[in-house]
Amino acid sequence: MSLQARAEIEVLGPPVARTAIVPPPGSGAAARRLGVLPMPKLEWNAEVERSTAHLYEKIKAVVPPVEWPFFAPYVKAINELKQKRNAVILAHNYQTPEIYNCVADFVGDSLQLAREATKTKAEIIVQGGVHFMAETSKLLNPDKIVLIPDLLAGCSLAASITGADVRLLRERFPGVPVVTYVNTSAEVKAESDICCTSSNAVQVVESFGTDRVIFLPDEYLARWVAKNTKVKIIAWKGHCEVHERFTADELHKLREGDPSLQILAHPECPPDVLEEADFTGSTSAMSNWVKRHQPKRVVLVTECSMADNVQTENPNVEFVRPCNLCPYMKRITLPKILDSLVYLREEVEIDPAIAARARRAVERMVQLKN
Ligand code: 13P
Ligand code: SF4
Repeated sequence: MSLQARAEIEVLGPPVARTAIVPPPGSGAAARRLGVLPMPKLEWNAEVERSTAHLYEKIKAVVPPVEWPFFAPYVKAINELKQKRNAVILAHNYQTPEIYNCVADFVGDSLQLAREATKTKAEIIVQGGVHFMAETSKLLNPDKIVLIPDLLAGCSLAASITGADVRLLRERFPGVPVVTYVNTSAEVKAESDICCTSSNAVQVVESFGTDRVIFLPDEYLARWVAKNTKVKIIAWKGHCEVHERFTADELHKLREGDPSLQILAHPECPPDVLEEADFTGSTSAMSNWVKRHQPKRVVLVTECSMADNVQTENPNVEFVRPCNLCPYMKRITLPKILDSLVYLREEVEIDPAIAARARRAVERMVQLKN
């Protein structure tokens, strides 16, 4: 019997639709300790043009020249302030090209950013990504200052489940291990045995050696995992509001127009969308696939900035672009990153009792061998 035919899954649902949770503002402790710096002058002149030309070169295929005079003064100021503050910027693959290519120190998928967060020697981490990613960085670096440039950079998956929901599931399925996707709050991670990302989900599920695992909160990622393992999955009805908008029909039509088109999809997409894909994987796995195979034409069934960022590294590949914007990722902009470094806000702070338990779940994941 193939693994596919064995896929076993039971999906439970949240009792009510949840609205995004807005975390409280930081206490301002970092700004009081290290002080606020003067806001740098932001002007476009010959010196700014000359000193940022090498960075514009990297993104010229995806950022029109008319936009660069707006971005360049911020890029220069941010890169100088990073030095002054001993700060690094960790940017997710969905960040816009000027952030991803011009100010980020490390880029990658959720797992790579979490691993990077354990290695940095910098005193301050600015998260170019969404709030759960910043919380993960803080969990792994409790003594560092972790900043999120916009508190409203949430995630529909993180908003779909609470710690109380996980406690109820544990009561209903006593003894069954709980795996939570990193796209969750620290409070939910604290109720879990281990975290996972889309790049290690199957490995994490199988790491317990049990015949059943509770896998939260993404229903579609859970279905994809269930297809690739013999472990029975108990799932939750959380969805990514960006990936759930793709349809199999739109991909089918694209393929009809060009049978050689390669379709790469993120496992947060609905199952019928994944059926149409030639490859399914995390954001970095998709990017590596393009680098390795150099297809003539490709569509990345995921957030829009991915195609821009992968395009800059693969100039000979044509990207077909039906994509959906993540409104949360797009809240992070160069002006907000600059504000973060000047004013040291918003500081990510996690209740120590929650942090200790959530850290254990993230560390277990990070310590799993690749
Ligand atoms: P990756 O871990 O694949 O980067 O995905 C994170 C995410 O939020 C996708 O929507
Ligand atoms: Fe969350 Fe979806 Fe945005 Fe990823 S793309 S951060 S899962 S809402």
